Amino acid sequence: MNARVVYYSATGNTRKVADAIAGAVGLEASTIDAYADAPVDLLFLGAAVYATHDHGLHAGMKAFIAALDPAKVGRVALFSTGFVHSEAIAMMRALLERRGIPVAEKSFFCLGRFALFNLGRPNAKDLAAAADFARGLIARP
Ligand SMILES: Cc1cc2nc3c(=O)[nH]c(=O)nc-3n(C[C@H](O)[C@H](O)[C@H](O)COP(=O)(O)O)c2cc1C
Repeated sequence: MNARVVYYSATGNTRKVADAIAGAVGLEASTIDAYADAPVDLLFLGAAVYATHDHGLHAGMKAFIAALDPAKVGRVALFSTGFVHSEAIAMMRALLERRGIPVAEKSFFCLGRFALFNLGRPNAKDLAAAADFARGLIARP
């Protein structure tokens, strides 16, 4: 199975989780801008929500999902970070399913630092849980 890890991260929280997921399965994470449009069996996709984007996904992430070729993506596994448990995963899931792209039932979320809130998150425990999430999805296609 071939897999890839792609994310958008404005302040680095989701990037940390992307790196933990990628590291756990022997890959390197890429940003949405660096994504190469080659066929992929399992695409790990990560994002967060921003008030600057109507409390929703970054416009770049929406454009990324809109441009995905459903014929080239076997399945997507979603991950997210948030100040609180946001709707980022539900938003990505809805956009992907609307395009006919299968989304794994399991997803990963952890808190992310925002200003003085959630200092230190994602922490080592969060990143270990993200790595477990990734290994679980790779092991059970
Ligand atoms: C500019 C900005 C705006 C944000 N707006 C919201 C928001 O409207 N609602 C929310 O729940 N979280 C909001 N957050 C919190 C982020 O979703 C959270 O910190 C997330 O972990 C950021 O991920 P990132 O570091 O990968 O960009 C905002 C964060 C930033 C930096």
